Amino acid sequence: MDVKGLVLSGGAGTRLRPITHTRAKQLVPVAGKPVLFYGLEAMAEAGIKQVGIIIGDTGDEIRAAVGDGSQFGLEVTFIPQDAPRGLAHAVLTAEEFIGDSAFCMYLGDNLLRDGVAGFVDKFRAGTADAMILLQHVPNPSEYGVAELDASGAVKQLVEKPKEPKSDLALVGVYLFTSSIFDAAKKLEPSWRGEYEITDAIQGLVDSGLRVEPHVVTGWWKDTGQLADMLEANRLVLDAIETDIQGDVVDTKIEGRVVIQAGATVERCHIRGPVVICSGATVRDAYIGPYSAISEDAHVERAEMEHAILLERSSIIGIDTRIEDSLIGADCQIRRSDAIRSANRLLVGDGSRIEIL
Ligand code: G1P
Repeated sequence: MDVKGLVLSGGAGTRLRPITHTRAKQLVPVAGKPVLFYGLEAMAEAGIKQVGIIIGDTGDEIRAAVGDGSQFGLEVTFIPQDAPRGLAHAVLTAEEFIGDSAFCMYLGDNLLRDGVAGFVDKFRAGTADAMILLQHVPNPSEYGVAELDASGAVKQLVEKPKEPKSDLALVGVYLFTSSIFDAAKKLEPSWRGEYEITDAIQGLVDSGLRVEPHVVTGWWKDTGQLADMLEANRLVLDAIETDIQGDVVDTKIEGRVVIQAGATVERCHIRGPVVICSGATVRDAYIGPYSAISEDAHVERAEMEHAILLERSSIIGIDTRIEDSLIGADCQIRRSDAIRSANRLLVGDGSRIEIL
């Protein structure tokens, strides 16, 4: 069975502001690599060749980062969606691209430890009309929730229920046959004004089609919020292997650390897991576990741990350790030379800063 890929990469990313004022949420790096790239790699690994990427306002940026997809071994087609009107609306936007193929739909801000190859293979080999992935979560009200019957078949799917019937959340990866298009066409907008894919899948169940559920055991993260982003960073860093290509001078390295070619690290203490990307310079600093330093960032006379520092930003001469933080691109955090003891800030809209 031919299976195409459909990656959703529109969406405004309001919960990750201010980072998403200036970049697509799917391009925020996790362990030094855009979230979206993990999804595209997972598609390639599953033997999928043709991938459609749904884009919205941030489409130009997504196009520039992904190119024609050949860096992933994929043939990518970009499909503009006029407005973020829900996942089922996105599916309908892609109807012409999908044709009568089966397809794997992947939400561009989702990360799965084990990728999707196992599920795509099962779907190819089976006769289900759709396959959904589920995971037990402590906060089901924040997701689509599945209720299964005693035999393990899907009974009901509800989007963000106030009183969830189970703790099984819908993971942002779905396998569909073209039957989903008819189901999506019958929808009315939900309470949040969106055409919900959860409701479309419920439509398949209601018309007696086979929707096969699978519980995902490896970790899964929807990186919609800061805490999720840091957690995804932690989970990915947990699996890295040491690879030191950059220039490292008088530095103590413990644990698993990646220092890419073109990075400079001098007189530091690096305690992995840590990724330092190319062009970054780190001097006289302590970089603690679960830190990711993006391209051309700069850390000097400072300490950071469990934090993400994006491209070209700098942290210089800060005595107190920076922790649990996501610092955007082109930011400067430095010690003030002022004699008066005061904090001076130039902070973008929607930023959050906690001062000791
Ligand atoms: C979407 C889906 C939801 C699913 C979640 C997974 O939620 O509507 O059913 O559980 O993705 O990431 P949204 O990110 O639109 O709030």
